[in-house]
Amino acid sequence: GNVIDAPILIVGSGYGGAVSALRLCEAGKKVVMLEMGLNWEKSGIPFSSMLKPGKSAAWLKKKTIAPFMNIFSLTPFTGTLDRMDFEHINIWVGRGVGGGSLVNGGMAVTPKESYFKEVFPDLDAEKFYSTYFPLVHKELKVNIIDEHFLKDCPYYQFTRVGEEEAHKAGFKTIRVPNVYDFQYMEKEYKNEVPRSAFNTEVIYGNNHGKNSLDKTYLKKALETGNLEIMDLHCVENIKLNDDKTYTLNVQQIDTSGAVVSDKVFNCKKLILAAGTMGTLKILLQSNAVNKFPIHEEIGKNWGNNGNFMTGRNWVKPLSGGTGAKQSTIPVGGIDNWEDKEHPFFTEIAPLPMGMDVATALYLLINRVDKKGEVSYDTTTKKLSLNWDQSHTAKMRENANYFIKKMNRANGGTRSHFLFNNGFGADVCYHPLGGCVLGKATNDYGKLKDHDNLYVLDGSLIPGTIGVNPFVTITAIAEYCIENLIRQNEFA
Ligand code: FDA
Repeated sequence: GNVIDAPILIVGSGYGGAVSALRLCEAGKKVVMLEMGLNWEKSGIPFSSMLKPGKSAAWLKKKTIAPFMNIFSLTPFTGTLDRMDFEHINIWVGRGVGGGSLVNGGMAVTPKESYFKEVFPDLDAEKFYSTYFPLVHKELKVNIIDEHFLKDCPYYQFTRVGEEEAHKAGFKTIRVPNVYDFQYMEKEYKNEVPRSAFNTEVIYGNNHGKNSLDKTYLKKALETGNLEIMDLHCVENIKLNDDKTYTLNVQQIDTSGAVVSDKVFNCKKLILAAGTMGTLKILLQSNAVNKFPIHEEIGKNWGNNGNFMTGRNWVKPLSGGTGAKQSTIPVGGIDNWEDKEHPFFTEIAPLPMGMDVATALYLLINRVDKKGEVSYDTTTKKLSLNWDQSHTAKMRENANYFIKKMNRANGGTRSHFLFNNGFGADVCYHPLGGCVLGKATNDYGKLKDHDNLYVLDGSLIPGTIGVNPFVTITAIAEYCIENLIRQNEFA
């Protein structure tokens, strides 16, 4: 029927949702998970590559929405990559069973302990570094590329060139772990198995190699027999009932985005894990539409994790440029975090365009010293974001410093090929915050002013963590759900 009762409901199947599902299922609880995106594994539809964008390329769009080179038209389909556009920032998110893990680059970076302590002064950092981070590495299947393979593989010329140039400019580089199976990658290089990372697959999904959540946490949770995942189910808004249970209005859609059924879900316990922007939208919209009670901290302390994209072009390709062949999986980073004046971390990013475009691409991650705020605009019926150039001014200064120093040592110019004036202040892959742990919630993600509502996703992190965030999101979710279960919240 169209009215469904579920004792425990989780909205969203990304990192926070997948961790919550596994631990609750292991504790013997029946869990229903609602995900607006498609269950790709079940559908049998392959993911498309960056050079041949098809069904999985974009969430109901007529044209691709990659950060650059959107020359491809599409038939609207419930694809894996979505983008939310605001005046000064565009935010990319993953859609589908597995959430962001389907589209992301798999970079599995543990934050610096000193910065973790600064961001989360009330958490027991020692416990996180001895217990939760190692646990998450194991569950997510984090591994590291073999240095010999890296040294010779033509698909990693972009990394080798990036690192050599960084060293020449006096920067320190680090090896970046990933959830992509590097043993699989070595086999794909030898053509023993189908290619994925070496076939421009990443932001529209990987058909092979990547241990996305459907292969890790969600798989384990399903194996308990206690989890039901309902895909193509989009939560519109929630209502608080007099008996402190929740009622959700949900639209079931088909793969063209058409609504096939309006459903109502009633639940005793509700976990929102729709990702930073998804969770904020559900809470703020429900507040506007249903007078859903929300704490004054909801929407505050939002940040872009210091994301700032930039690039360099060489006047003449150095050491053969970055190469026409590029792996989609980044393994190199530049660590300038200890620099007091210009603290940043940079991913040496691939630009797999199938030709040598003599361009080096970098995603900087900076501190976020000025936070933004998310609210709901009742006229446009959309989220609005208090975020402008003032929030990214220091990030731009760091990018400028970085590019200048690299160019002085290595030649090259700021890339105008990729962005207006070479600076992508508006590119955001890591929206964080808005339901900050201990501020909008109790110590373990239970929302203030509520008895049966929890938030377990990137919105718990106050806008910044200094590195790519999914390892931290997963670790915080592990910590919260363990304690919530221990406190008998789901008894
Ligand atoms: P996440 O966004 O993963 O999941 C939320 C889920 O909820 C989605 O599946 C969504 O469809 C669903 N949902 C939303 N609203 C809903 C509604 N109303 N009803 C039903 N379902 C709803 N990070 C990193 O550490 N290393 C990396 O290499 C990268 N690279 C990267 C590349 C790109 C292109 C992107 C877009 C992002 C990254 N990231 C990354 C970021 C990382 O993917 C991101 O931080 C996490 O996926 C966030 O995890 P959450 O659990 O918060 O939500």
